[in-house]
Amino acid sequence: MLQERIPDLSKYVEPYRVRKEVYTDPHIFDLEMERIHERVWVYCGHESQVPKVGDYYTVQLGRQPMIMVRGKDRRVHVLHNRCPHRGNMICGDRSGNTGEFFRCSYHAWTFQHDGRLRSIPMMESGYQGTGWSRDNPDCNLKPAARVQSYRGFVFASLSRNGPGLLDFLGYSKIAFDDICDRSPEGEVEVVPNCFRVIQRSNWKIFLENQLDALHPSVTHQSTGRAAHEVEKEIEKRTGKAPLSYHMLSAFATVTIDKWDGFQTLNYPHGHCILTGYMGLRPKDPDTLEYERVLAKAYGEKRKEEILSTNIHHVLIYPGLSVQSPLQQLRAVRPLGVDKTLTEIWHFRLKGAPEPIYRRALAYYNLVNSPSTMINADDLENFWKCHTGLQSDGGDWVNFQRHFGRDTEKGGVVETGPNMGTSEAPMRNQMKAWAQYMATEK
Ligand code: FES
Ligand SMILES: [Fe+2]
Repeated sequence: MLQERIPDLSKYVEPYRVRKEVYTDPHIFDLEMERIHERVWVYCGHESQVPKVGDYYTVQLGRQPMIMVRGKDRRVHVLHNRCPHRGNMICGDRSGNTGEFFRCSYHAWTFQHDGRLRSIPMMESGYQGTGWSRDNPDCNLKPAARVQSYRGFVFASLSRNGPGLLDFLGYSKIAFDDICDRSPEGEVEVVPNCFRVIQRSNWKIFLENQLDALHPSVTHQSTGRAAHEVEKEIEKRTGKAPLSYHMLSAFATVTIDKWDGFQTLNYPHGHCILTGYMGLRPKDPDTLEYERVLAKAYGEKRKEEILSTNIHHVLIYPGLSVQSPLQQLRAVRPLGVDKTLTEIWHFRLKGAPEPIYRRALAYYNLVNSPSTMINADDLENFWKCHTGLQSDGGDWVNFQRHFGRDTEKGGVVETGPNMGTSEAPMRNQMKAWAQYMATEK
């Protein structure tokens, strides 16, 4: 039915351009939810969000309200947030502890943490001969088809088919290795809670922006300049400005030509990496102490390997943008064709000195939070893009920058030297999009 209302999608995506309807047509959005977000591995949350038995967090996967819960078996389960009786959501709150079991607020059916039916009021007399019983899986909370964690990061897929999580992530799993290896204990824990931002734009516009190395020195130039002025002033007075000023001033001091000096790496399934650009290894006493702790845990050689991992952003298509050296990520939850929720989380490196956490917190607040001008400038562009795309002013979105100059080795598309502002990541995402959308089952 849905397919019949959508013209041939292969005409909508070309190697370097995409029809505007891909961003604005509600029927295409519905098909995206069915064929992408409700099928592939999507990030649910971190295991440390639900440390105790009965702890839960609700999360949206595609159009499906879901519950991530810690069971008595210590495993993390992901269940549909829907009672099998009359459809009531089991958890109305964002998060909490459900105790020994879930209890539906409507007619008191209860469920185990893994979703199995536990009890129905006066079940024997009420349901005699009906087939409703603890043996009937239709009486359970429906679990996600597949749930798997990698280094504490929990993913679920609502389809039984498709690659396993590690095959799906491929090289992009480096996002989680990098974030965890920077902890002397090899683990991170989430900092509760996250910022939530609702953007008035299509979900793909946000993802395309994540590895868009052309925009920072334009969109964020005014914020970068203002920060740089203050940074220079402080340096003049004290000899050294705090690193947090550098986090903002880099948007002005790293100019477009310098951005071209970085590289993008583009992988199967739409995942992409932008290599690092910021000097994040200062020689202040806090950092030196952190390096000592890390060397003690891993040895000098491994410490060097860990700290020289050269990543700025890892984009895990279709819904996660990870900044591993700064221990933060943004999860994208499409709510409608023109409405997108982003959850902005950050993490603590277990066993690392407190000032290293403070650095992540500074970046979180100064660059990624809704209260910073950086995020506000991006949000304005997203809304303006979406509004422009709804107009009759043109039919295509263009991703042609440095097109035809990428190199491909073993399925990985790399931008060449001095092409860091290439639109290869957008081309890669749309290639994956077209493949997903063409796959019926
Ligand atoms: S809707 Fe849940 S018990 Fe009735
Ligand atoms: Fe930006």
